[in-house]
Amino acid sequence: MEKATHVSPLQLFQSKEPVKMCAPMVRYSKLAFRTLVRSYDCDLTFTPMIVCDSFLKSAKARDSEFTSNEGDRPLIVQFAASNAKDLADAAELVARYTDGVDLNCGCPQRWAVAEGYGACLIKHPDLIKDMVQQTWNRVDRSDFTTSIKIRLHKDIRETVELCRRAEHAGVSWITVHGRTKEQRGEPADHDAIRIIKEGVGVPVVANGDVKLMEDVRRIVEQTGVDGVMSARGILRNPAMYAGYDDTPFQCIQDWVDIGLSLGTNLTYFHHHLMQMLDQYLPGSEKVNFNSLTSTTAVLDYLETNFGIGWNPNKNFYTRNKEDLGCHSHGQSRILGKDHFEKFIDECTEDS
Ligand SMILES: Cc1cc2nc3c(=O)[nH]c(=O)nc-3n(C[C@H](O)[C@H](O)[C@H](O)COP(=O)(O)O)c2cc1C
Repeated sequence: MEKATHVSPLQLFQSKEPVKMCAPMVRYSKLAFRTLVRSYDCDLTFTPMIVCDSFLKSAKARDSEFTSNEGDRPLIVQFAASNAKDLADAAELVARYTDGVDLNCGCPQRWAVAEGYGACLIKHPDLIKDMVQQTWNRVDRSDFTTSIKIRLHKDIRETVELCRRAEHAGVSWITVHGRTKEQRGEPADHDAIRIIKEGVGVPVVANGDVKLMEDVRRIVEQTGVDGVMSARGILRNPAMYAGYDDTPFQCIQDWVDIGLSLGTNLTYFHHHLMQMLDQYLPGSEKVNFNSLTSTTAVLDYLETNFGIGWNPNKNFYTRNKEDLGCHSHGQSRILGKDHFEKFIDECTEDS
């Protein structure tokens, strides 16, 4: 077995109080962004949600959905799955490149619920239990984690019961987004998260309205959680876990260097900049910046207005992580075609 050169998620829970996480975010939490936030004190990152079914069936889906590299650890792949076999199969596929899989039990979108994914799973604790157990049994690595990310039920007792059953099934930790599946902009219910934390023995991670280090401290104090997870806050300010209340220009500069060096496509590159610059641009300028349609135009804008340029030869590294062997971004790696073909052949032989 390869020797790990990074701290595993379980080690993080033992050594960090709290573990600071960047949420799974469709379209956003990709390799370049994960690299950026890690360099600003984020301990653990997630891929965007990947639908197991298409990931298992299509090489194209695998290539477009999962790209990683040597420095991209610790890393959790989040899957949307509706049955235990799919989740276990997908976990087996990604295990050698990652530290764990997370089951999405929180996505409230209608298409997901119609397919049996996401938030509808919290109504099926037996299914979650089965999915966790089968995944756990399938990947033969003691440091590989299986976690779940849930939303609240209307009755908190149901959520506590669900978490207890997941714990008995062997779940590694539970992330709780402190909203029900019907809630959107309402403040996250951190008191509910405290009740869940008091009801289980596995680590609990609080998600919802984590935007500043001050929020981190307050939520940890209020709930006793072992970790915190930010989505919209860290999108806007990827340096938040390093203690910055506003996005420092150096972070925007780093995004330009990392994003372009890793070949991020224009749409994602530009969208992240819109998020990070939101606090600095007045309304009319936002419209102007958001309407740019080429990388050159975006770079010209940044140079003219913020003095930020691209350093194509800069060998960036994950700051504060030098001792963990994460120095350079290296070559982006898309999961090898051969590896998948071998796996699919093995599955066919088994059935
Ligand atoms: C752009 C975006 C994409 C998201 N994609 C996912 C996803 O892929 N998987 C998931 O579990 N949650 C996803 N979420 C939900 C977040 O992970 C998080 O639970 C939610 O935004 C609450 O956290 P916040 O208050 O820090 O934003 C997404 C949220 C945003 C804003």
